[in-house]
Amino acid sequence: MSKNTPKNKIINRIVNQSTALGALVILLVASLISNFYLYDSNQNTKKQNQTILLESQNLRTSLDDIGKKYENIAKQLDINEKDRLFLVQSFNQVGSEYNGLMNNYNEKLNEVTTLQKAVFIPDELLKKYSKYYFLNENYSPSSTVQISLNYTLNGKEVYIMPEVYTKLEKMILDAKNTGINLVINSGYRSFNEQKGLKSAYTQRYGSGANTFSADQGYSEHQLGTTVDITDGKVGLVTSFENTKASTWLRDNAYRYGFILSYPRGNNYYMYEPWHWRYVGVELATYLHDKGLNFYDLDQNVIDSYKTKIFD
Ligand code: DAL
Ligand code: ZN
Repeated sequence: MSKNTPKNKIINRIVNQSTALGALVILLVASLISNFYLYDSNQNTKKQNQTILLESQNLRTSLDDIGKKYENIAKQLDINEKDRLFLVQSFNQVGSEYNGLMNNYNEKLNEVTTLQKAVFIPDELLKKYSKYYFLNENYSPSSTVQISLNYTLNGKEVYIMPEVYTKLEKMILDAKNTGINLVINSGYRSFNEQKGLKSAYTQRYGSGANTFSADQGYSEHQLGTTVDITDGKVGLVTSFENTKASTWLRDNAYRYGFILSYPRGNNYYMYEPWHWRYVGVELATYLHDKGLNFYDLDQNVIDSYKTKIFD
């Protein structure tokens, strides 16, 4: 143990003072170091801040650029939209003008077609011949075709207008499909054929022939639109009305444009359930639906159906 001598006291004081000085130096150095690092850290932060500021400014500039581009595109779109609407309006306008013209054109075409029919379809086809109108010896159908021998009685040669044959054949085939046999007994007869026939009947039956045979010029057969139909078993007699074929014809012939010219109780001839005249589907349907007979209608009304006779 050291003694508390003056010398030791001095040494102790020196030691203590040195220690305090050392501690002070250490503190000073530590403070310097720490301040240095703090300064350095602040500098980094400042740099980072500047970098971020610069980046954000760049970003802002880019965003502004994009914003301008967006505005330009929007304006362009707006212009295009106006153009598009204008084009759509123009297109619709041209379309409706086109439709209007097309309607006019179709109306004119129908008028022309009707006029052509009015000119080319002979008025004679829908006239009432039973003692009203007369067909002279020169009248004959514009053309005729021979009816298939499969449909005629005993392979008889029978002719008819081609437009009527189309409807007649369909009627025969449709009837056949339901088990009904329609057999054609006679069709077109010229003025002279009718003359010969009537003359033969008159020789045989006298004036009685007038009840079932027309004079030449007054027969619907001269038109080429009229046929006598049986079932191939029962002939041209009143009792034909009791056959299935007759019932089928009464119920269906109008759908093919045929009408019964001389029904029971008519004013012109005896009842002829076999004698079917083609007048067109529209007129035949009208007569069927109204329960009227051809010869009961005014000629003016009948004539109004002429242009539609072959529709
Ligand atoms: N059987 C009819 C009336 C004619 O001869 O035309
Ligand atoms: Zn007849």
